Amino acid sequence: MPQELKRIGILTGGGDCPGLNAVIRAAGKCLLRAGGYEIIGLLDGFEGLIKRKTRTMTFGDLSGIMHLGGTILGTSNKADPTHYYNRDARSFEDRTEEVLSFAREIGLNGLLCIGGDGTQAIAYKFHNRGLPLIGVPKTIDNDLMATDITFGFDTAVTVVAEALDRLHTTARSHHRVMILEVMGRNAGWIALHGGVAGGADVILIPEIPYSIDRIVDICRRRNTRGEGNTIIVIAEGARNDRGEQVVARTVEGAPETARLGGVGQALAAELEKHIENEIRVTMLGHIQRGGTPTSYDRNLATMFGVEAARCVMENDWGKMVAYQRGQITRVRIDEAIGHQKLVSMDNRLLMAARAVGTSFGD
Ligand code: F6P
Repeated sequence: MPQELKRIGILTGGGDCPGLNAVIRAAGKCLLRAGGYEIIGLLDGFEGLIKRKTRTMTFGDLSGIMHLGGTILGTSNKADPTHYYNRDARSFEDRTEEVLSFAREIGLNGLLCIGGDGTQAIAYKFHNRGLPLIGVPKTIDNDLMATDITFGFDTAVTVVAEALDRLHTTARSHHRVMILEVMGRNAGWIALHGGVAGGADVILIPEIPYSIDRIVDICRRRNTRGEGNTIIVIAEGARNDRGEQVVARTVEGAPETARLGGVGQALAAELEKHIENEIRVTMLGHIQRGGTPTSYDRNLATMFGVEAARCVMENDWGKMVAYQRGQITRVRIDEAIGHQKLVSMDNRLLMAARAVGTSFGD
């Protein structure tokens, strides 16, 4: 008698990120090659479990997707079944039971959840309700606990460094102050790594409140030294020394409603009062998140996908795959949620940047 196939679901949740398809490919191919598994793609994150949107994935579906940005499964950052926003009623509902019963109905034996802290928190709740779960960490922000690095981060940093290379030449030609606003939510990882790689003169991160007076001093000093141009990288979550952050919009129904943005313009408006250089602001926005992943991210995503598949084969549920001290490893999903990994003041790159004279606005 043929052995019954185990059905393993895969979903991508939260904001998209370069490398998601490489994880789907690696985990899916690994399980299909092992035999005994059927791969069910759940579409648009947890929304797929609520709205019953699924797709069986074959080798054909998993081929030729490694280099593609975004996610072939679609995603949503508003589809927490335990706290689901009903647009018509303008209220939240708990759809947990419905999701669990749909998972039973389609015979899901396990689920791989590829996502950031929000997705892992939802995954953990479902794991505790008896749905066998494996987490795979993703975020361009690199702010997830329990893993030293997430895929997508290297791609975002590369985009920032390339943008800075371009801004340097135009800044120098016009003796301007150029401000580049980058993503990262409340963590300064993208600004720090992108800013150092791109040779920024000033890097402003949420972890270090900045003083306008200090930045004015730096711009003036650079003018008197004949440099005449200053490159400033500012993280979207950066705070001035009064602790103020700039929120661009609120997203109704999302677990985290505030969307940061606009701090670059706010900084320019302040600086313009004190310095004579012309100032221009570039907001990189979703350019940092879209498009093809770097080879580093493809390889990290592949290793994460394979480790997630191994967790399934070993029935090691409730784990999130992670990268720690140069090794692919596994942690409990709850070790990764609830706290953000921020840049510490003894971070080696931050200290190296200070040593070469980069200012952090403090
Ligand atoms: O978490 C990834 C991220 O790109 C953040 O850096 C940014 O603050 C946020 O998502 C933007 O979210 P959205 O795509 O909903 O505008």
